[in-house]
Formats: sequence, C-alpha cells, structure tokens
Amino acid sequence: MQRILVTGGCGFIGANFIRLELQADPELAIINVDKLTYAGNLANLADMQGGPRYQFVRGDICDRELISSLLQSRDISAVINFAAETHVDRSIQDSSPFVQTNIVGTQTLLDCCRKHGVARYLQVSTDEVYGSLGDSGKFTEETPLAPNSPYSASKAAADLLVRSYCQTFGFPAVITRCSNNYGPFQFPEKLIPLFITNAMQDQPLPVYGTGLNIRDWIHVSDHCRGIALAWRNGRSGDVYNFGGNSELTNLELTDRLLSALGKPHSLIKFVPDRPGHDHRYAIDYSKAQRDLGWVPQVTFEAGLSETIAWYQSHSDWIAQVKSGEYQKFYERQYGPQT
Ligand code: NAD
Ligand code: DAU
Repeated sequence: MQRILVTGGCGFIGANFIRLELQADPELAIINVDKLTYAGNLANLADMQGGPRYQFVRGDICDRELISSLLQSRDISAVINFAAETHVDRSIQDSSPFVQTNIVGTQTLLDCCRKHGVARYLQVSTDEVYGSLGDSGKFTEETPLAPNSPYSASKAAADLLVRSYCQTFGFPAVITRCSNNYGPFQFPEKLIPLFITNAMQDQPLPVYGTGLNIRDWIHVSDHCRGIALAWRNGRSGDVYNFGGNSELTNLELTDRLLSALGKPHSLIKFVPDRPGHDHRYAIDYSKAQRDLGWVPQVTFEAGLSETIAWYQSHSDWIAQVKSGEYQKFYERQYGPQT
C-alpha cells in the first residue's frame, strides 16, 4: 500500500482528486490535512470518512510540528499540495492570508519534506502566474511569470520557492499549472458555481466590466488526471501546463448557463470591473501531451450540463455553503443590492 499526504483535500479540486484517486488505485491510501477555512468543507468527503484508505487530519500547512510528525510517523511517499487561499477577489480585499498560506505554507511543506526525505512533492499551481494574454497566443511552460493579483503573486512566489529547492537541494518536485476549473463541489464564489446557484434562485449574475474577458475552462476531472500523471511520471524540476481548450468570454459563458437553466438574460447585472482584471488566459498543453500522454477528455458542453445537474441536485450543500461567512463576503464584494 502506498501512502500519500494531500493538503487542502476538503476544497474543490482536492476533494475531487481524493475521490478519483482512491477509486482508480486500490493500492493507494491518502491522508488529507486541511485547515477547514471557509472554503474547506467536510461534507465534500463525508462518504469517504471511516474508509480504511482515507484519513482526515484537521491542521494548517504552516504548522511545522504537525506536518513533520505526520511525515515521520506515516511513511509518506509523496505530498501533493492543493492547500491555498484561491479567490482573486478575496486577495484584493486582504492579501495577508494569501501570503501566509500560499507562501509560508509552501515553504513549511518543502522544509518538512526535505527533512524526512519525501520522494516526491507536487505543487498545484495556476496559469494565473503567467499574467494576462492579449487576443492571441497561449501560455507555455517557458512564458515568463508576470502575476497581476495578490493571489497570483503569492502562487508565483510559491512556485519560485519550489524551483529554488529543486535547484539548490535537488529536491524532487514538480509543478503543475492549470486553467480555470469547473465541476462538482466548487465553492460558489467562483464564476460558474456563483452564476449557476444565483440563477437557480433568480438572483442577479454580477458580470465584471464588459464581460469580454476570456478564460479557458477545464473540467476538474481532467485537471485531477493530469496531477495524477505528473505526480507519478513527471520529471523532477519540471513544470506541466494543463488546459481545457475551451476559451469563452464571460458573457458567452453566461449566455450558455442561462440557456441551459432556462433563465432570462435580464438576470445579468453589469458591475464595476475587478481591479487589475486579467484579459485572457489560454494554455498550450503540448508538453503534458508529449511527456505524460495527457489531453483533456471532457467536452465543455458535457461537463457544463453535468455540473449544472450536480448543483440542481445538491440544494442542501448550496444552502450550507451560502450561509454565515458567505453572506458577509458577498455583501462586501457586491454591495447589498446585488
Ligand atoms: P479551494 O479554495 O476550493 O480549497 C482550498 C482548500 O485549502 C480548502 O479546503 C481550505 O480549507 C484549505 N486550506 C486553506 N488554507 C489552508 C492551510 N493553511 N492549511 C491547510 N489547508 C488549508 O481551492 P481549489 O479551487 O480546490 O484549488 C486548489 C488548488 O488548485 C489551489 O492551490 C489553487 O491555487 C489551485 N488551482 C485552482 C484552480 C481553479 O480553477 N480553482 C485552477 C488552477 C489551480
Ligand atoms: O486560471 C486558474 C484560476 O482560475 C485559479 O488559479 C483560481 O484559483 C480561480 O479562482 C480562477 O481564477 P479567476 O479569477 O479566473 O476565476 P473567477 O471564477 O473568480 O472569475 C472568472 C472570470 O469571471 C474572471 O474574468 C472574473 C469574472 N467574474 C468573476 C466573478 C466571481 C465576474 O465577471 N463576476 C464575478 O462575480
């Protein structure tokens, strides 16, 4: 039995990853360390709890003693770091938790992994570290880092720390950088789940600026499959980009969501633009295709309709995550009228 440590597994992508990996590999056991911030939800893995190959530990990746003791006592062969503060708008409101978790937390994990001789470390990063594209071209692994938000700056800083540990100590790490994910269990502060859940309740859909910014959407299962391949077969010191080949303007995407849900366009509400709003992301994933045999498999049409169906059949989950702290964030971000 191989045992790995996953951090941030109660969030959107980590929870999908744990589900898919435990299903795909019967010889794998996973320990999930998660701080349970507003974005971490035990309900995302409730049906895994108590299983012989899954263990949850509530904890902070900045806690050196905890991470060290887990690595020492559990014979961990790999660490996959999903844990992060992830929402750009929150990083504009307050960058402190982003610096703490994304940078100091990554440094802590790197030090602990080195100390205990962990054979593989994977840093889950983002295409946002490359900055913004004009109307043409795509990000490759060679694109210079040019982050524009406090969130992406903190992720770029973490990537550079990982790179430095590879160069300086021969540390066995790989970095993956993926475009915008969507799918089940995504917290409804991000565009797709926010707009689906608002439209389901006939609430306004707040489109920033002109709505002409472009994102490349990828189904979370494709991202997780890429991480699984990179962790097992990636070359130490290398970066791998993953993308969905599904570029859409935010308005095109909103149109598709409203049509699929049978809701009127009058729900669209244009609101002031996000400061420093990146214009366009697009990914060249030819390296992952060549070296890992990875290509995205879920079409945007199929993935979106499956995702809408998931939210439609999980009204309890939506009600739980949209209560409490969420309401305060929503009012701070969009004002009382939206
Ligand atoms: P998420 O916000 O849904 O979940 C983050 C998880 O990390 C939560 O469970 C939270 O409780 C946990 N966490 C936060 N701080 C922690 C700490 N100090 N210690 C332990 N756990 C902590 O995030 P997500 O969308 O699932 O993203 C996961 C990773 O993938 C992040 O590193 C993110 O930068 C990266 N990424 C996300 C996307 C995307 O589209 N969502 C795309 C590319 C890369
Ligand atoms: O590209 C990968 C990144 O994708 C991840 O690293 C981040 O963790 C993840 O949050 C996501 O970042 P974005 O900022 O691109 O995602 P978000 O869903 O916040 O916004 C997508 C687009 O929609 C962006 O152009 C801003 C716009 N938007 C977003 C919200 C929340 C709106 O127009 N209105 C909104 O209310």
